[in-house]
Amino acid sequence: MNKFETYNRIARYYDFLDAPFERFRYQPLRRVMFAGLEGTLLDAGVGTGCNIPFYPKYTTVAGIDFSPAMLGRARARQEKLGAKVDLRQMDVMALDFPDDHFDAIVSTFLFCVLEPEHQTPALIELRRVCRPGGTIRILEYSVSENPVYRSIMKMMAPWVRFAHGAAFDRNTEQYLAAAGLELVEKKFLYRDIIKMLDVRVP
Ligand SMILES: C[S@@+](CC[C@H](N)C(=O)[O-])C[C@H]1O[C@@H](n2cnc3c(N)ncnc32)[C@H](O)[C@@H]1O
Repeated sequence: MNKFETYNRIARYYDFLDAPFERFRYQPLRRVMFAGLEGTLLDAGVGTGCNIPFYPKYTTVAGIDFSPAMLGRARARQEKLGAKVDLRQMDVMALDFPDDHFDAIVSTFLFCVLEPEHQTPALIELRRVCRPGGTIRILEYSVSENPVYRSIMKMMAPWVRFAHGAAFDRNTEQYLAAAGLELVEKKFLYRDIIKMLDVRVP
């Protein structure tokens, strides 16, 4: 099953399955991902809209995802929260936005899902739609150096690949230079397991 089908299939269970992680692990990180951002923002791979409560006030936000079913959940969340987000179906590798359109882009747990050969094309496309001097922030899993956590992650990896089409070891920072992007900071936000890449568009 390809990832498009995977996400359309799991959309209705996604929030339920992720609920314990969402509540106790992800929500504080989502706040950090949007801290200090202003202007016109893109949430790339918006999913069911878990980031929506954390969008800064007085910003204009667009959210894209290639899965109509995930976007449907995001629309429902948007309505429930009374938020205004321009939610659209798009592939991150072919965005229907003009060059330099956004001041900042946030992408949470999308790059864990993209296959290695799609990382650079996706980053190049994000670079294209973000203005020079703008910020791109990426949140992703990383394989822990701690032997206990490392073996737990190794055990979970086949399930994560099957259920989410995702991997813990994408290390997206290795593709930044090829996409013409500059890493400002790599910061672990949860143990040495979830990290934020703070990236600048030159
Ligand atoms: C693990 S979910 C993360 C969702 C959300 N950002 C979050 O933090 O909860 C990954 C999302 O990326 C979307 N996705 C995967 N590949 C994509 C692509 N090529 N273009 C756009 N969206 C994609 C999936 O449909 C899914 O909604």
